[in-house]
Amino acid sequence: MRSLHDDRLLILDFGSQYTQLIARRVREHGVYSEILPCDVDPLRIQASAPKGVILSGGPESTTDAAGWKIPKEVYDLNVPLLGICYGMQALAQELGGRVESSDLREFGHADLVIENEESLLTGMSDTGSLSVWMSHGDRVTELPPGFKVIGSSVHAPIAAMADEERAIYGLQFHPEVTHSEGGSEILAKFAHAVCGCGREWTPENIIDDAVAKAREQVGDGQVLLGLSGGVDSSVVAALLHRAIGDQLVCVFVDNGLLRLYEGAQVMETLAQNLGVRVIRVNAEERFLTALKGESDPECKRKIIGRTFIEIFEEQAAQLKDVRFLAQGTIYPDVIESAGADSGKAHVIKSHHNVGGLPAEMRMELVEPLRELFKDEVRILGVTLGLPKSMIYRHPFPGPGLGVRILGEVHKHSADILRKADHIFIEELRGAELYDKVSQAFTVLLPVNSVGVVGDQRRYAPVIALRAVETIDFMTARWAHLPYEFIERVSSRIINEIEDVSRVVYDVSSKPPATIEWE
Ligand code: XMP
Repeated sequence: MRSLHDDRLLILDFGSQYTQLIARRVREHGVYSEILPCDVDPLRIQASAPKGVILSGGPESTTDAAGWKIPKEVYDLNVPLLGICYGMQALAQELGGRVESSDLREFGHADLVIENEESLLTGMSDTGSLSVWMSHGDRVTELPPGFKVIGSSVHAPIAAMADEERAIYGLQFHPEVTHSEGGSEILAKFAHAVCGCGREWTPENIIDDAVAKAREQVGDGQVLLGLSGGVDSSVVAALLHRAIGDQLVCVFVDNGLLRLYEGAQVMETLAQNLGVRVIRVNAEERFLTALKGESDPECKRKIIGRTFIEIFEEQAAQLKDVRFLAQGTIYPDVIESAGADSGKAHVIKSHHNVGGLPAEMRMELVEPLRELFKDEVRILGVTLGLPKSMIYRHPFPGPGLGVRILGEVHKHSADILRKADHIFIEELRGAELYDKVSQAFTVLLPVNSVGVVGDQRRYAPVIALRAVETIDFMTARWAHLPYEFIERVSSRIINEIEDVSRVVYDVSSKPPATIEWE
């Protein structure tokens, strides 16, 4: 029987911003794909034993003598190759063709005319052309021996090339971006028809595989997991619970900086509904005492992180025979640290939530999501029976409301902010706007302003509403929510929460502002 990883594609990364997208597209077609940097130890290329290799785009120029080369071991694999953008140019150059630099960068949509009857591009268009996404300076001006043109555009007469005999292909455009018409189908055709991969990479198979691996790794040992209520740790909990049942012990620390009803929801979903063993530690007072008198954002983060670790260690010490620590590390974390830890045993991720777990905690890591992208983790979560409302929730920072109460944190402020946040989110859901924004929350400003409610003068804090639209959270645009909607939220907050005098809307994008206020 074929296993989940037998039919895999290797994606060699030459530094394109789209490399992860290539891997995700391939996986969407049921084929496991792994990403390795182009300067990886050649032994790892051989060990990967892929059924095909995709060479990504990249910022360099093949006309530059220092530009990255395709490792010899890739050719030695004797499997189909697909070069995208830089990958195509590198193939052309190395196989005897010619690449020229041009000052004119072609960026954006281009019409690609499909040139040959039987090729990788056949059947992708009824009209004989595709609107594709280009982003390149260099272009191939002379085909290598054995190749034919299979697609051309006005600015790139050799926009796609193929040597069918050796199953080597090059695409100047980016099939992985959704703006490229037929792009996903081209990648599917390469994976299935050209490389002969099956469709084993499905949520059910991924779960079966992760369950089997976890059982094998931990045997009859006990596993500890810090549960935050976020997507990754919840999915790890559900997955490991399926694998090892009561050998999994979760610690959920209520730091008093959670959203309204959050603690109860985590307990209900995981402990009551799924039957996961969860130790809930009510530590509100301990966190608030530790935070007393502190108003510097970074110091607040550190205090919250340190207190979390202290509590976690105390809990771990009480549990005898725990040899394993589970973590929600996902594939982008692995790729990002690939250079740093390639070949070496991986170290505990220094999570910016908790400031890293101490080195003395000598436990072996269990990381069942290490191969998965965030969207795959979500699909797995739903398949495992977690509620969609939990799985598709906006991100919530580790330090919680601690970084949304500006300045010193008091219980009273946390209570006000929780209520305001709840009203904002409830209204977003009611207006079907929740899924249209990427993240939304309220912030409590450490200033009082004057208001009049009824005949009474009110001198109370200000609440800011923050809502952003973003793909990657590195840049973000403030969400253009309808005025009537903002008006409704504002009036509910001021009327329903006695201690708020005023509501303002944050119209700053990132950069220069960050998403959170602290
Ligand atoms: P910023 O404020 O840096 O936030 O634009 C980008 C994204 O990261 C989240 N964020 C955090 N997440 N611990 C976390 O786990 C943190 O300390 C932290 N700070 C910011 C933020 O909510 C947004 O989604």
